[in-house]
Amino acid sequence: MVTDFNLNTRINNIFFLKNVEFRVRRDNKTIDMFFKIADKTGEIEAVNWDVSDDKVEKLGKIEFARVEGYITKKKSDGTLQATVSSLIKAAPLDLDYSDYLPQSKKDLDQLMNILYSNIESIKNIYLKKLLKTFFDDQEFVEKFKKAPAATKVHQPYLGGLLEHTCNLVRICETIGDIYKEVNRDFLLTMALLHDIGKVREYTYDRVIEYTDEGKLLGHITIGLEMIDQKIKSLDNFPHDLELMIKHTLLSHHGRFEFGSPKLPSILTAIALHYADETEAKISGFINIKEECGNFKEKWSKWIWWLERPVYLDEEKILKNKINETEED
Ligand SMILES: [Fe+2]
Ligand SMILES: [Fe+2]
Repeated sequence: MVTDFNLNTRINNIFFLKNVEFRVRRDNKTIDMFFKIADKTGEIEAVNWDVSDDKVEKLGKIEFARVEGYITKKKSDGTLQATVSSLIKAAPLDLDYSDYLPQSKKDLDQLMNILYSNIESIKNIYLKKLLKTFFDDQEFVEKFKKAPAATKVHQPYLGGLLEHTCNLVRICETIGDIYKEVNRDFLLTMALLHDIGKVREYTYDRVIEYTDEGKLLGHITIGLEMIDQKIKSLDNFPHDLELMIKHTLLSHHGRFEFGSPKLPSILTAIALHYADETEAKISGFINIKEECGNFKEKWSKWIWWLERPVYLDEEKILKNKINETEED
């Protein structure tokens, strides 16, 4: 498995190939192949030096391959790089594609059960009906359960969207407990629905990446369309409630530059936006720390979405101090 690799590890296994790129050297004739080899535990960079011209097209189309080589480099940020000596196309039919994608460590059936009990706890008949049109639809549920929450940053793995949604619902329940002015049923409904557009924003059967629809429209617009369709299928859905649902969905990213065409203008929308931001940022931060798990440095590399590196010695310091009480 990719996560077991270390410097000098010999590689001889079948991997999924990602981000394949050919670069021509300064001599204008030697071509090197840069790519990533991945399995369900993760991915690492790989290089196939000096690829002959006539093989470029064939190699560029390979999805799965038996890869032989060695881990030859450990970069200053702790990431590994493999030098490949042999790359032979493997038959895709022999393989379960989802095995080659990163997966949630959580029990997804259990999370779905929690989600269903959240829906059952909703008392408002219109909101409950709307939720059920989605979560009683097995085709939608299968996609929702498998979808990642993102391609990078937070929960970028199969089951990530379900994890993110369940965590967000818990944060929203706490907000509802503290602030009685916030309508619990409405906030929970929106937490459950806010990112449903991600089932179409990303493709996640062979590789986790944006779909054309995701790139062109984004999950906010897709989600709005999905909700609009479902509401139209329901009899006598109150129009003012429909507007509040749509407003809360549209504004959940909180700022124009983060893709929201409207800013939160009702209490539920502002609560959902900050709860969503809290969940995504904390989960994203945890993700960085997990990725840097075997990394001996004190600081991570520069994290583009935080615009800072992350200090990695936090646990070590806290663990050493944890037994020190006042008597000591
Ligand atoms: Fe979102
Ligand atoms: Fe979200």
